[in-house]
Amino acid sequence: MATVLVTGGKGFLGSHLVARLRRDGETVRIFARTPKDQEQASEDENIVYGDIRDPDAVDRAVAGVDYVIHTVSNFRKGGSDEAEAHDINVGGTQNVLESCLKHGVKRLVHCSTIGVHGDVREIPATETTPFNPCDLYQETKLTAEQNVWKFYKETGLPISVVRPISIFGPGDKRMLKLFKMIQKGKFLKIGPCTAFFQPAYIDDVMDGFMLCLHHEKAVGQAFIVGGEKYLPLEELFKVVAEELGVKPPWIRIPLKPILLLAGICEALCAPLGIVPPLHKRRVSFFQNNRAFSVQKAKDLLGFESKVPLREAVRKTISWYREQGWLS
Ligand SMILES: NC(=O)c1ccc[n+]([C@@H]2O[C@H](COP(=O)([O-])OP(=O)(O)OC[C@H]3O[C@@H](n4cnc5c(N)ncnc54)[C@H](OP(=O)(O)O)[C@@H]3O)[C@@H](O)[C@H]2O)c1
Repeated sequence: MATVLVTGGKGFLGSHLVARLRRDGETVRIFARTPKDQEQASEDENIVYGDIRDPDAVDRAVAGVDYVIHTVSNFRKGGSDEAEAHDINVGGTQNVLESCLKHGVKRLVHCSTIGVHGDVREIPATETTPFNPCDLYQETKLTAEQNVWKFYKETGLPISVVRPISIFGPGDKRMLKLFKMIQKGKFLKIGPCTAFFQPAYIDDVMDGFMLCLHHEKAVGQAFIVGGEKYLPLEELFKVVAEELGVKPPWIRIPLKPILLLAGICEALCAPLGIVPPLHKRRVSFFQNNRAFSVQKAKDLLGFESKVPLREAVRKTISWYREQGWLS
């Protein structure tokens, strides 16, 4: 059996990938940041601890594996400064590329994001839609992906790139606040909420990763993967409310003053090293169109999105309830 390294294997996507690969009978190694609690550090034997910015640590993790899935990024740090975002997303990816080449890895699946297309300029966007990153995270993810393709052309390392659509499902807390506020009737709609949103259930995204890991046509290609349905935010809120059994949100506040406030928050918090309570990326949720086609993955890899939106929302609600986070 092959050994697959998952960088970021303790994160949301990474931990699902680890479980899925193990279920499929693969041997899995995890690369994760050193935990503060040393007890935890000895729990799992096939784990290499370190920072993705440290080339020696990355090299130790990659040595001896057949495949690598690289998911590490500063994704959840809305307030990262420029240097940190660049070093993790761009520098960290470069470390992974160099080590994969050095150790003759059979395939690297690099996790990019649909965020490289930012506020999309055509609907639905495809892999060839012009890039339009709208924030530091998206810009650094784009630079990382561009470097990946440069490396692929120069070295021939077998690489496939996945651009996941916004992922949700068990294990993710990003949508929890939205669900909670809708349940409590306290959710504030910012602006007209006509922008499109396209949620991707975690199982569908994992199917995309597995295809990119194994399918011969995946090499040298980028694929958008996730759910197929995009809908205006207003409708998404309605679906969530219906599945929660409550009234859809009705309070609306204008966008411009909130954007201004987010900018001020970021400017004040950055020099103090504090994560801003409100930042532009959070507000962009209400602004940017995210509508994508997964047709390329369907045509080339036989990808299929299997979990309809309502079922995905239901499963997520049920997991939040199991955790005691929703009533
Ligand atoms: N979730 C989405 O909706 C979505 C959509 C599109 C693309 N993506 C991409 O999917 C990937 C995984 O995202 P996710 O949602 O699973 O986020 P996540 O839960 O934050 O996972 C990222 C992992 O990277 C680790 N990490 C961060 N900085 C590191 C460093 N310097 N050294 C070592 N490890 C580090 C984190 O560890 P710590 O917990 O210790 O920081 C975490 O385990 C990312 O590449 C993201 O860009 C996500």
